[in-house]
Amino acid sequence: MSKNHVVLSVNNLSKTYKGVGYEVKALKNVSFDLYKGELLAVMGTSGSGKSTLLSIIGALDEPNEGTITLNGEVNKNMFTEPYATDYRRENIGFIFQSFNLLKDLTVEENIALPLILKGTEEEEIDEQVQQMLELVGLTDWRSHRPVQLSGGQQQRVAIGRALIIQPPIVLADEPTGNLDFNTSTDILNVLVDMKNRFNQSIIMVTHDPYVAAYADRVLFFHDGQIVDLYKCTDRQKNMDNILKKFRR
Ligand SMILES: Nc1ncnc2c1ncn2[C@@H]1O[C@H](COP(=O)(O)OP(=O)(O)OP(=O)(O)O)[C@@H](O)[C@H]1O
Ligand SMILES: [Mg+2]
Repeated sequence: MSKNHVVLSVNNLSKTYKGVGYEVKALKNVSFDLYKGELLAVMGTSGSGKSTLLSIIGALDEPNEGTITLNGEVNKNMFTEPYATDYRRENIGFIFQSFNLLKDLTVEENIALPLILKGTEEEEIDEQVQQMLELVGLTDWRSHRPVQLSGGQQQRVAIGRALIIQPPIVLADEPTGNLDFNTSTDILNVLVDMKNRFNQSIIMVTHDPYVAAYADRVLFFHDGQIVDLYKCTDRQKNMDNILKKFRR
């Protein structure tokens, strides 16, 4: 990763959810930088605001205060439709714990979706999808539907779909949360390979110290705030240190 190139900055972000009889401060004045080519892991207790953070960076939700700076600029319209959709399509790839594939579409149709929405020509779509199928190792499964695939294979489809337009920012919310140990390792390697290939930056929420140990840095959240930051070195040391921070 390039330490000098900040691709995205989160500036003093606050988010309060209000409803009848309740008020939850999900994020309280959160700020950090994301570097080009970085894998940034986000850990923290349940309800500490991790998914809220990703929703706001992905313009799926609007903050009460604060801004997101992308490549040095604040897009004032990023939380207002139709600009929010444009922002997402141009900049963000989403990967979720539950894969979120369209069940009636085949593997290659799922992966092609962002290109179709973008209006890419059919020949170009074919070429790019075949390339992506190879990268995620699903060429032989191209005509299958999601129900015919294992969890790991479904997550590969989701990664293919998220990365087909080569977004500069990838937001992954517990991408290995539903996968066993070996499949998680496999998915992490696919994610890191792709990130390096396309020079992307990933923010990945995880509860698993083994998964977080793949990151360049780990942000620790508690009660809507960043309470710690760990810079990763050697993977085994990372895991030990991350576990220690958890147990503290
Ligand atoms: N749409 C919403 N309406 C009201 N409250 C919400 C909403 N989304 C999240 N919250 C609240 O905001 C807080 C942070 O939620 P968030 O989903 O960001 O936590 P999280 O860190 O992702 O937790 P987990 O690890 O369980 O996924 C929680 O108290 C949650 O109940
Ligand atoms: Mg969450």
